[in-house]
Order: sequence, then C-alpha cells, then structure tokens
Amino acid sequence: MAKTKSIYYCQNCGAQSATWMGRCRQCGEWNTFVEEIVAPAAGTATAKTVTQSRPVPLNEIQIETDTHRLVTSIGELNRVLGGGIVPGSLILLGGEPGIGKSTLLLQLALSLPQHRKVLYVSGEESELQLKMRADRLPETNANCYIVNENNTQAILQHLEQVKPDLVIIDSIQTMQTNALESSAGSVSQIRETTAELQRYAKTTATPIFLVGHITKDGTLAGPKILEHIVDVVLQFEGERNYGYRIVRAIKNRFGSISEIGIFEMTSAGLREVLNPSEMLISNHSEDANGIAIAAAVEGLRPFLIETQALVSPAVYGTPQRSANGFDTRRLGMLLAVLEKRCGMKLMAKDVFLNIAGGLRPDDPATDLAIIAAILSSHFDIPIDGKTCFAAEIGLSGEVRPVSRVEQRIHEAEKLGYRRIFISSYNGKETTAHRISVVRIAKIDELLPALFANS
Ligand code: TYD
Ligand code: MG
Repeated sequence: MAKTKSIYYCQNCGAQSATWMGRCRQCGEWNTFVEEIVAPAAGTATAKTVTQSRPVPLNEIQIETDTHRLVTSIGELNRVLGGGIVPGSLILLGGEPGIGKSTLLLQLALSLPQHRKVLYVSGEESELQLKMRADRLPETNANCYIVNENNTQAILQHLEQVKPDLVIIDSIQTMQTNALESSAGSVSQIRETTAELQRYAKTTATPIFLVGHITKDGTLAGPKILEHIVDVVLQFEGERNYGYRIVRAIKNRFGSISEIGIFEMTSAGLREVLNPSEMLISNHSEDANGIAIAAAVEGLRPFLIETQALVSPAVYGTPQRSANGFDTRRLGMLLAVLEKRCGMKLMAKDVFLNIAGGLRPDDPATDLAIIAAILSSHFDIPIDGKTCFAAEIGLSGEVRPVSRVEQRIHEAEKLGYRRIFISSYNGKETTAHRISVVRIAKIDELLPALFANS
C-alpha cells in the first residue's frame, strides 16, 4: 500500500519541515515537532468518508432514547456511562498500569447478553494470556471474540468480518496505522489510529472502548490529546495495594460526570460494590481514639468514610505531618486553624492521618471529621461510634456549609448513625427524625459538644 505523505509541524509556532527535528529553527523550542498527514493515500478511509455526510435539519433528527443504549450487566459501569453504552460512541478508559482496565473490559465483554458479539482486540496480551485471565472470571460468553493485533488496517478488516456489537481496543498506545511511519505510542500514531477507529464507530454505530495508559506523573501525552476526540473519558483509579477501585467519568457527552462506580478487585475479577459506606468503615472497637466518620459525597452518591488520626509527641526536632488519602497541605492548614482558634499546642506533635480503604475523597466536607479525629487522638477520648461529621473548615475557624447536606444526613440515618455534626449555616429544615443534627458555627464549639458526656 502506498504510504501517505506526511509533514512535521512545530506545535509551538507552526513551522513545517520534511523531517523530524529536535529543535525548531524558527522559534527555537525543543521537541515540538509532530508528524501530520497532509495527503492521505487514495482508497484509505480518510478519502472515502468525506462525501458521505449530508446536512439535515435539526428538527428531523430522531432523538436517540435510552432504549437504544446498550445496557451492560455491570450496574456500576452503566451508572458512570449515564445509563448504558450509546451506539457509535468512543469511550476512553484511562488508568495507571495494573489498576485493572483489561480486567474490567474483559468482564464487560463476557457479561454482555449472549446474542451480542464483542471483539476484544489486544495489542498487549496474546490470546492465551487473555484466555487465562478469562478463566479467573466468573462470566462466560460464547460470542466474545479475541484477537491479538496492533495494526488498525488489519483490525478494520476483522471488524468487517466479525461485525461486533461492541469493540474493545486494549490499548490505544500499542496501535499503529500504515498511514504513518512513526512508532506506536507516539502522539501522531495515537491521534491517527483513534481517528480511524472513530470513523468506523460513527459510520457503523458500533461503540468502541479504548484503553489508555497514564503514568504516575501523567507525562505520557497519549490519553490527554484523545480527550477532545472521544465522547466519554472514564478514569479508573484507586491505590494498587488496596482492593478498591473507582471509575469516574471526566467527560461524558451523553450523561452526567458526577457519577462514580465502585469496584473491588478480588481473586475472581472485579466485584461491584453496591453499598460503599459499609466497605469504608472498619470494624474498630468502640473505645479506639482518633477515629471519626465523615459523611462525604462522591459524585452524586453520599457515603460514609472513616478518617483516622494519630497525634503523638514529636521525638525528633521537626514534627512530622503525614497524610494518606488527604492533601498534606490541607492537613497543615487544619492544624494551624486548631492552634490559632482553639489554642491547642500542636507544634511539638507528630500528626498522622489516614483515610480508610485507600480512598482519596476530594470532598471538603471531610474537614470536620478530620478535626474531630485529631481532637480525639490528642485528648485520648474516643468518639462514640454512632457520630459522624459533614462540614468544611475555613481559615478563621468557621464551620462552613456543604452541598447536599440532606442527602448526607439521610445516608447517615439509614446506616444507623445517631448524631451528625453540620454547619449552622446549612439550612434549618431537615426531614430526618431518627438522627440528631448538631449545628455548630465555630470550630471551638466542637470540643464541648463532642465530648459533652466524657
Ligand atoms: P489488569 O487488568 O491487567 O490491569 P491493567 O490492564 O489496568 O494494566 O490487572 C491488574 C491486576 O489485577 C493484576 O495485577 C492482577 C489483578 N487481578 C486480580 O487480582 N484478580 C483477577 O481476577 C484478575 C484477572 C486480575
Ligand atoms: Mg492491561
């Protein structure tokens, strides 16, 4: 097949060059040249699709209702996708290596209804390796096809033959198109292979999942440049040493991005976690110090999460502040507020903080629980296990209101909590009746209210 003509462009100033250059002669920037196709070879998909489009009045377009969505049997995935997979959509699943992307998608492939065909294209694992992985999973599907291939032209041929209802590409970084000479994983290859797959997805209304790697420091350009092209970007995250995994939608053209799906990695693949609060609260004895429960909200879902603090005299000169699952700078800020507004002497103490389950909630409402856990550890007084907290702390020590407070109160009530601390500035009305709602306005009101009976 004739090679297409490509040219190198400087991403900084737009200068052109016939060959790749390390440094742009025009603007002097380093490493900015990227290969672009200028004249696609005749007969490639690029040349074909141009004339197929036809402008239509917006009013005449039939609305795709949810019945058209491909509803998977993985409820947590449906939830993040906004109710199922939209035909013809391109869905990017990003995540660090080893987090479980291939496992999740293989499980998805195996759990589709039996009359639905799936083609799982792996550029990383052989058919045998995939079979071994599939054997660990509980699901089976006679219509799941596997192929080890990384050339997009070959993949498109397989797609013509198999005509699957769903395609999985694992991973986009290993795919290569004949149109470009650069190696797989380079920016231009990733962009071009995605564009070819997207053309297939849109013309045949077949949804395609793409797996994208991101490294710890997020340096790999791959998935970032894809975010504009694809319809949905899902991020798979979690601490590798803990079993819990969260799928989060970062972009979704067909649904909300505030939903999350929670899974647990087990020896038989990923298991859906339907009641996150139960998993996030350890079974500690009633008299343990330094434990407080936060009524957090992730996405649209409230859940209760355990925060643990340990405050101990600093042995070495500089006291340590260390946090697992929480921003250390924010911990420093909370400690400074405690010193200044409550007169607590924490400067000579080591403070360690841990969020249960290896989660990293980015909900400011966990502040009050963290303060309570620190107080509890500092004064060696346990917090009664039926109390939880939901408020943000401001720099002047004010207890600030948080969103969805009703939902948090109800979740706590449902799980049998008897007392919840919230901000006085959160509306007065509440429909909860089995839980006592304690409202505080200033951080120094917490201590007397919390340990009133101790
Ligand atoms: P994998 O899906 O290969 O991650 P990714 O594709 O994101 O790189 O699998 C990640 C880890 O999951 C791997 O270290 C092994 C583990 N695992 C289980 O614990 N149980 C299982 O049933 C499977 C299939 C994998
Ligand atoms: Mg993988």
